[in-house]
Amino acid sequence: MRAPKEAVLRVAKLRELINDYRYNYHVRDYSVMSEAAADSLKHELAQIEEQHPELITSDSPTQRVAGEPLPGFKQIRHSSRMLSLNDVFNEEEFVAWVERLTKLVNSAKFDFFVDLKMDGLACALVYQDGILAQGITRGDGTVGEDVTANVRTIESIPLRLRHSKKFSQFLSGRTEIRGEIVMYKEQFEKLNRERERRKLPKFANPRNLAAGTIRQLDPKLVAARSLQFHAYDLLREDQAEVPTYDFVYQVLRELGLIANREAKKLGSVKEAIQFSQTWEEKRKKLPFNTDGLVVKVDNRRLYGRLGVVGKAPRGAVAFKYPAEQATTKVKDIFVSIGRTGSATPVAILEPVVIAGSTVQMATLHNEGEVHRKDIRIGDTVIVHKAGDVIPEVVEPLVKLRDGSEKKFVMPTHCPDCGMKLIKAKETEAIWRCPNNACPSRSWKQIQHFASKGALDIEGLGEKNVVALIETGLIKDPADIFTVKKADLLKLERFAEISAGKLVKAISQKKQPSLDRFIFALGIRHIGEQTAVDLANHFHTFERLKIATIDELNQVEGIGGIVAESIIEWFSQPLHKKLLDKFKKHGVWPKTAHPPEGPLTGKNFVVTGSLELMSREEAAERIRARGGRFQTSVSQETDFLVVGGNVGENKLKKARELGTKQISEASLLKMIS
Ligand code: IVH
Repeated sequence: MRAPKEAVLRVAKLRELINDYRYNYHVRDYSVMSEAAADSLKHELAQIEEQHPELITSDSPTQRVAGEPLPGFKQIRHSSRMLSLNDVFNEEEFVAWVERLTKLVNSAKFDFFVDLKMDGLACALVYQDGILAQGITRGDGTVGEDVTANVRTIESIPLRLRHSKKFSQFLSGRTEIRGEIVMYKEQFEKLNRERERRKLPKFANPRNLAAGTIRQLDPKLVAARSLQFHAYDLLREDQAEVPTYDFVYQVLRELGLIANREAKKLGSVKEAIQFSQTWEEKRKKLPFNTDGLVVKVDNRRLYGRLGVVGKAPRGAVAFKYPAEQATTKVKDIFVSIGRTGSATPVAILEPVVIAGSTVQMATLHNEGEVHRKDIRIGDTVIVHKAGDVIPEVVEPLVKLRDGSEKKFVMPTHCPDCGMKLIKAKETEAIWRCPNNACPSRSWKQIQHFASKGALDIEGLGEKNVVALIETGLIKDPADIFTVKKADLLKLERFAEISAGKLVKAISQKKQPSLDRFIFALGIRHIGEQTAVDLANHFHTFERLKIATIDELNQVEGIGGIVAESIIEWFSQPLHKKLLDKFKKHGVWPKTAHPPEGPLTGKNFVVTGSLELMSREEAAERIRARGGRFQTSVSQETDFLVVGGNVGENKLKKARELGTKQISEASLLKMIS
């Protein structure tokens, strides 16, 4: 069967792009895209080659084994090959690896040794009678570069092994120590801040920078970059001197090297999987980047006996965490109208699994962003998704275009109500639908009004709101309070009990707290904390309603844009009518009494998930003690509470600003 023309073309383009990535990455220490994105492209290439094996050529990136050494440094042959690891990407693949091993060892029991997989570059240190004699990069695994002068500047590499009575045998003869040279995240950010100040292009990532640094010809420059070395292996002529990896790590520490304290011996698959789960979240707090674990057979004799396939040992795997980037195609771009009328272009994607969940849509933020990044319908794009953030299109892979891609044209009119889209100011990036009664705005507004952070009406979630709107029972948030049990019972979704419950939940929210009511109105730029600040300042809704720009500007955390937005909201006839309607239905917020407490004047941000309370609860308890609960880290933030499954952004910002990071337990102490 001959491969269709599109496949031939696609394969050629994929190879070109992957080669371009590889060349830049390995030879120039420069990253044109993330490793995950490149992996995603390699995966697509491998799939096409599997369907059309006649397209496989010996120079295809799928047929590659490792990288070449650089000229410029003396080349040194390794005492034994520095191997790579095969990857497993999920628990099933991990279990399958263990099962294969179990068969190979005739079901004999064996222990695992697990460590974090550090994202740096491999390096071998040769000690002769305890004195550092050579530092050699991995190179192609067989021959590496002599970087002795450079590794001598790395403080965590002992120039002489520490004297150890217990392990004195390693101080005579040849001891080779292998490990990873890494740059800590903090150091990387510091260097990039400096680059930014000096208006120089920023470094791509810590690994590239570490790799680039170790290949500098000037050791002074290497010293200034503060690299680190974490050891993971020790080689002796007689390998019987180091029977297990558990033992290796003990020796390494005793000899004065860093070997990860987190690494340990485990007796079962279950424990290894548990270890992996624990570190999936916690790894983000480590000083270096890791994208998985290394799991090895602890017994080195057995490990050796299991042998090598290709360039990887059978007795070890890299147990990788799901990548946060992948490549996929943009099927279409549509415009979504938000609660405040904002018209956001959204990419519809060919479904792709990123970080364990299927992604089908990604925000494109605004028209300007689509054009700036030149994202076209039909493009192959890199999509990024981390933790609980909204998936985002990073960039299109322009080289993969075949000419059929279409440019996105921002509609001039609202796709929902047909009204002309406007920009309040020339400088604004976002188009808006000015129609306050636009159907897509109103249902999002009602949803927001009833949502957890706002009035928190139990039982009035997204689906029920849509049902009530579709059957004409409600058109705006005030209508919610006119809904009767008999009305609900006419709908399929409700039965006696559920209808009764919802009506009761609604009636319980007729006198909401002032801050929740302000937030629930969905005024542009008013988040939960600003609503609290307004409530604490004005005490009653009547006073807020008649506040002037000057008065609003006096409120903590409120600037010109927010003040204008409030004035604008109250000036709209539609909103005046809405407020009248609330009054008529007996719905009005209570007077606010600002709390004073031990946390007065302190600003908190929470990142990641908390174990003992919800985010809302944390906010409420912080506020009840006088503190403020912000949604993003800023200069004002006093504490960043770090929970589980954290994204990088807030941590990075906090590190940059030097914000104090605390645990959930410390927060609990402060609010109990
Ligand atoms: S053990 C067969 N332990 O991962 C080599 N390697 O993909 C096994 N790496 O080149 C080495 N952290 O540079 C081991 N804790 C760790 C590691 C680790 C990072 C690197 C190593 C190797 C690559 C294999």
